[in-house]
Amino acid sequence: MPAAVLVGAQWGDEGKGKATDLLGGDVDYVVRYQGGNNAGHTVVIGDQKYALHLLPTGILSPHVIPVIGNGVVIDPGVLLEEIDTLAARGISAERLLISADAHLIMPHHKAIDKVTERFLGQNKIGTTGRGIGPAYGDKVYRIGVRVQDLLDPGILAKKIEAALVEKNQVLTKIYNRRGIESEKVLEEYLAYAERLKPYIADTSLVLSQALDEGKFVLLEGGQGTLLDLDHGTYPFVTSSSPTSGGACAGSGIPPNRLTKIIGILKAYTTRVGSGPFPTELTDEMGDWLRTTGGEYGVTTGRNRRCGWFDAVIARYATRINGITDFFLTKLDVLSGLEKIPVCVAYDVDGVRHDEIPMTQTDFHHAKPIYEEFPGWQEDISGAKSLDDLPPNARAYVRTLEEMSGAPISAIGVGPGRDQTLVVRPLV
Ligand code: GDP
Ligand code: IMO
Ligand code: MG
Repeated sequence: MPAAVLVGAQWGDEGKGKATDLLGGDVDYVVRYQGGNNAGHTVVIGDQKYALHLLPTGILSPHVIPVIGNGVVIDPGVLLEEIDTLAARGISAERLLISADAHLIMPHHKAIDKVTERFLGQNKIGTTGRGIGPAYGDKVYRIGVRVQDLLDPGILAKKIEAALVEKNQVLTKIYNRRGIESEKVLEEYLAYAERLKPYIADTSLVLSQALDEGKFVLLEGGQGTLLDLDHGTYPFVTSSSPTSGGACAGSGIPPNRLTKIIGILKAYTTRVGSGPFPTELTDEMGDWLRTTGGEYGVTTGRNRRCGWFDAVIARYATRINGITDFFLTKLDVLSGLEKIPVCVAYDVDGVRHDEIPMTQTDFHHAKPIYEEFPGWQEDISGAKSLDDLPPNARAYVRTLEEMSGAPISAIGVGPGRDQTLVVRPLV
């Protein structure tokens, strides 16, 4: 049986949580394959709202087995807190599987994330401060602590000590911060180990066997295409690969098992943190989109930067990910506008670019070239099918589809599980 990937097509916060939840009815496993608790995925079921950071959205569907893949970086304290918070709301995490190969976020990662950002001043990335970049950095340096190390206290102690010998020098000598005591960290992480042991598994083996048995696996990305370490707006990116290629590396599922790549695309654009954003609106219109769309960070509470839909980026996401279907979210937010501008290309120092410029310098200079489309005044949040949408809303969707290069197979008209128009089955 096949595996499908769900990937953010812009700068994150496209509505991946809602889309994954919606597909939860049809799948057996939901796997997070990269990122960590920098992600904030919101799911609204009836009058209940859930904000998930590390747990795969599949946790909310009782028949789904949620899996945290090897490509994720895990802050164990945050994970346990999330498990406990859900348990208090009657949702069990008993089925959860955590890859033994996933890396752990350690206290020094969080400390270094914060101080390096402060050090960068004006040039800061605007990270979530959760230790994501430093944890992936140690993974690449081959000095990371993995989930499986929790099963061997001797190894865990050695790795923590070895890491802190160097990191404490960095913290105290370069950044003038207090050092971190390795004994305390060991004690803290041994306590986490006790609680996390039952969930630790060889998840790539489990998933391979599940696929052989005909089960359906959904791979849920965090962040989005333009935040990808390789394909995003480097250095204003996260430190992992949210794009579909990363789904294989971060789960151990080989590329020839993937059959669908579903891109989640917001009907306008948002971004949190620093970096280029050609269609950003810094005027009242941007404030209107933020207020109307509720564009405030789920993880950090920061205001999201808001702007018009950028078709250049959507086309790029189709190309980089091999998107087979789009799930267009938040169309309802645009109701009430007279005209809706869509960025169709960029002007870079007088030259038209139909694709993202090759260099970041040019991308920083990119000015959007807009085409305007007529808006609609009706509230569409109660629409049940494409036919319920006003003609101008349908035309807007058709336009985005043509410009983005893949069919729009589902449309979100509100945050609720049932506020989705399914044009054709996604999986
Ligand atoms: P994610 O990080 O991609 O999962 O997205 P977030 O949860 O951070 O942000 C998306 C926000 O939009 C959440 O508050 C969702 O509840 C909300 N949302 C998702 N789809 C829709 C939609 O179609 N319409 C509206 N109005 N809100 C939506
Ligand atoms: P979801 O999964 C939006 C952004 C941060 C910052 C950059 C690097 O909810 O879509 P990091 O802490 O990852 O090193 O920060 O990436 N960022 C996100 N922006 N949604 C997210 O996740 C994000 N995760 C990280 O704001 O600009
Ligand atoms: Mg989010």
